[in-house]
Amino acid sequence: MSCQILDGRLIARNIQEELKNRVENFCRDRQFRPHLTAVLVGADPASEVYVRNKQTACQKIGMSSDLRRLPATTTTAELLKLIEQLNRDPNVHGILVQLPLPAHISPEQVLDAIDPNKDVDAFHPYNVGLVAQGRPKFLPCTPFGVLQILKHGGIITRGQRVCILGRSDIVGKPLASMLVQRTSPLGADFANATVTLCHSQTPELASITREADILVAAIGKPQWVTADMVKPGAVVIDVGINRTVSGLVGDVDYASVSAIARAITPVPGGVGPLTVTMLMSNTLVAAEQSALIAAS
Ligand code: GUN
Repeated sequence: MSCQILDGRLIARNIQEELKNRVENFCRDRQFRPHLTAVLVGADPASEVYVRNKQTACQKIGMSSDLRRLPATTTTAELLKLIEQLNRDPNVHGILVQLPLPAHISPEQVLDAIDPNKDVDAFHPYNVGLVAQGRPKFLPCTPFGVLQILKHGGIITRGQRVCILGRSDIVGKPLASMLVQRTSPLGADFANATVTLCHSQTPELASITREADILVAAIGKPQWVTADMVKPGAVVIDVGINRTVSGLVGDVDYASVSAIARAITPVPGGVGPLTVTMLMSNTLVAAEQSALIAAS
């Protein structure tokens, strides 16, 4: 079977082109530019790369951004003070605190402090609740990116069995909660799935993954999903980004799985570019909503 390669870079480029036009119209009509502030605590090399990619993407589509760098020794109180300042700043529309934070800072306390209207990651419990109820203000960027890849690849989730590997708050849980809804911002074809959310305590895992029409791997274990865990003809979405001695690899063993799958995302160049792009989309939505509030 020939396997469709779902090219995340190409899909991201097309969506960014649309966003660029929307940003241009927004700036002309509203006389201000959507602005994203990223906060980076410490100097984790992977986080440095992610934050740089986000800033480059802002620049490409005509949004402004800035990066607040804080030392790894920053206290929770100091970080919360910065978040409060950013919440109050009318020129900041989106706030992104890059995770992971140093071990002495509680991520919950920090994420809870972000104004839900500026929470472009959709990590605040208020936004998590809206997503769970199927009435999101923002969709979390990586799950939203997965939906975009499926849509652009012509792969509908309605009536399909989807298995998600990994129960993280960033990917697994919100993606499961989005896919079981009756509809999504991309339409009913990209919702209405029968979802199984698997994790490290799931017994007989391979027997479950082999039932899936669409398998999403988000567990952070290099090349962990092998062909014997995949139904022939399934669609495989690899959310993993693992740094190994032989370079970046996903959670899926690409060589063996692409030999039996109907479609697959590569790593790099699959879900990653969409995560960044959907952050841009959320920041534009935050600026649009802030403009509406200011006008009312
Ligand atoms: N670290 C890994 N993924 C993410 C993400 O989507 N958002 C933030 N803020 N940090 C991350």
